[in-house]
Parts: sequence; C-alpha cells; structure tokens
Amino acid sequence: MGRRCTATDRKQNSALLSLNSASSRYSDSLMETMRALVATAVGEPADVLRLETWPIPTAGPRQVRVRVQAAPINPNDLHIMRGRYGIAPPMPTPLGQEAVGLVDALGDGVNQLRIGQRVVTVGLLGTWQDYIVHNAAQVLPVPDGLSTSSAAQLVTNPLTATLLVSELDVQPGEWLLQTAAGSTVGRLVLQLSGHQGFKTINVVRRQSAAAEIRALGGTEVISTDVDDLRTRVAEIAGGEGVRKAIDAVGGQIGADVSRSLSPFGTTLVYGALSTHRQTEPGKLTVPLFARSLIYESKTVRGFWLYRWFQTATPDGCRIRPGRP
Ligand SMILES: NC(=O)c1ccc[n+]([C@@H]2O[C@H](COP(=O)([O-])OP(=O)(O)OC[C@H]3O[C@@H](n4cnc5c(N)ncnc54)[C@H](OP(=O)(O)O)[C@@H]3O)[C@@H](O)[C@H]2O)c1
Repeated sequence: MGRRCTATDRKQNSALLSLNSASSRYSDSLMETMRALVATAVGEPADVLRLETWPIPTAGPRQVRVRVQAAPINPNDLHIMRGRYGIAPPMPTPLGQEAVGLVDALGDGVNQLRIGQRVVTVGLLGTWQDYIVHNAAQVLPVPDGLSTSSAAQLVTNPLTATLLVSELDVQPGEWLLQTAAGSTVGRLVLQLSGHQGFKTINVVRRQSAAAEIRALGGTEVISTDVDDLRTRVAEIAGGEGVRKAIDAVGGQIGADVSRSLSPFGTTLVYGALSTHRQTEPGKLTVPLFARSLIYESKTVRGFWLYRWFQTATPDGCRIRPGRP
C-alpha cells in the first residue's frame, strides 16, 4: 500500500533543498569544503542568495555535526531575507531553520547520539549547508518510516499547528476559523481537526482550492475570490460568528476574520502572507474595526513559535491527546 501524502510532503518539489547526493560526494572524497547557500544582504532572494564554498565545520564539546540531507524553504526564511522578520541576523549568513540529516561527527561529551543516526535540528539558523554543527541537546532522532521530506519539516509547521489549536483550547464539535487553509500549517490543522473532532471553516483565496480542502476533511470552505467572508461565516456558524480563529494572511482578510468573531472571541495572528511583497508600512497592517473589538470584548493577539521556544515550560508543552 502506498504511503499517505502528508501536509509536509507537499513542499518536496517546490521548496525543499535536497543536499543528499552532493553531500555524500563531498564526504566520499574527504573534501574539507562544502556548499553553503548564503544570504549576502537583505533583499529579494534572486538578488541576494549566493552558493558559496565554505570550510566544513568541526563539532565542539557537547555538539554534533550533521550531514544535511534536506532542508525546507519556509515563508519565515523569505521574511528574514526581505528584512521583515522578528529577528534580523547579521549578513552574510546561511539561512534555513530546519533540516534532516545524518550524524557525521560527535564532539566531546556526546553519548546519547551515534554516527549515522538520522536526526532533525531544533532552534538552529543556517541549515542551508551541506554540513551543520549544533548542540547535541537540540538534535532529535527521527523514526525510520518518515520520508526525508516530512522529516525535514517536522518541527516548525507541525508544532505551530498543534500549539495554535491547543492555545485556543479548541474543543470537539467547536468551530475553528482559519485563513490560508491550503498552507502547510492549514493542512496540518485539518489533520488535527480529524484527530480531535473540531469543525473548521477554511478560508482560501481561490475557488479552485476548495475541493482539495474538503477532501482533506475541511468542514466548510470560503473562497475570498467569490465569497464575502463575513457573510459566509454568519451563514455557516450563525449570526454571532465563531469563538476561535487563526489567521496567517493579515490585511483586510485578517480584519474580516476578527469582525466574524463572536463576543469574547479570539483570533491568533501567526502570519502575514498578504504583506510578503509589500514595502509600504501602511500596507503591513490589519485594519481592525474598533467598535466590534470594544463592544464585543474580542481579542486579537499574536503567536510566534520562536518566542514560544524561549518561554515554554515543561507544563506548557503538554498537548491535548486526540479522540480515543
Ligand atoms: N508565527 C509562527 O510561529 C509561524 C510558524 C510557522 C509558520 N508561520 C507562518 O504561517 C504561514 C503559512 O506557512 P506555511 O509554511 O504553511 O506556508 P505555505 O505552505 O508556503 O503555504 C502558503 C499558503 O498561503 C497562501 N497565500 C499566500 N499568499 C496569500 C495571500 N496574500 N492571501 C491569501 N493566501 C495566501 C497560499 O495560497 P495559494 O495556494 O492560493 O497560493 C498557500 O496556500 C506563513 O505566513 C508563515 O510565515 C508562522
């Protein structure tokens, strides 16, 4: 039986740097240099990215070196490159925040990992290289059955989808309104909805995406090219709207989502896809309707995985299990 295609598999062709064959070639010939895909300055990817030859790094104490097999290109990498992210690393620097690869060298004091073990990195910026060095404590072994593509994307988007749903405490039978439903995060939320039993109203920007979202288990789909978001939410969920929403688009769509909340409702804003190519500060906003916010006591707040990593406690990491 064929393996089911997961949300993360989608990026395999379009946005996954696969370094597999080249890296084994490098190690076979015992070369001391490797390739690094470097952002040389802030700007558009085509203008600022350069493939450079760098020395292969050495693992220090309590570190491991990983021979990278694949690393995804996520929207946040493009945000960093365009100078619009929450962090601004000094450039030139290799970008990329996730990778899967094989442990290639162990630094002193590393006992919990072995050479050749397949691992993913957590919290490392600069994975678009043939070899990376990282703290052994922030390297996680991955199961054999997971494809290279899925393993490379195991951290950022799956964790984000899980945390968004758990931060809003979405209950079985309850509605969750989400924008950019066709994104990797959106599809992971759909998988969670099947697992946990909540219903979804899925906003996409083109009607042609609707059938696929329904096939993935989306309860209702709103296509903003043909539908009015607020009218459709009221038709689906009732005049009061929905209690919980997640938004990755921002701009007018984000504002419409917040208008569609019921009193005491909450939107978690976790992306701003509508601003990706904008440079005018005025366009980087979500024009919230003040009266609706005030008189209906609504909350619109941000979520950023980077900050969650900095602040999470072991208790905060407990995630609700799925339905039995
Ligand atoms: N806050 C955090 O910690 C965090 C963590 C992870 C991801 N994110 C954010 O989550 C978002 C989704 O990431 P991803 O990796 O899942 O994305 P992705 O797989 O690359 O998918 C992008 C999706 O966004 C849609 N889209 C792009 N521009 C749009 C626009 N202007 N209006 C409406 N839809 C638009 C695309 O629709 P089409 O199919 O129609 O092209 C596509 O479905 C990004 O903004 C990312 O930065 C945030």
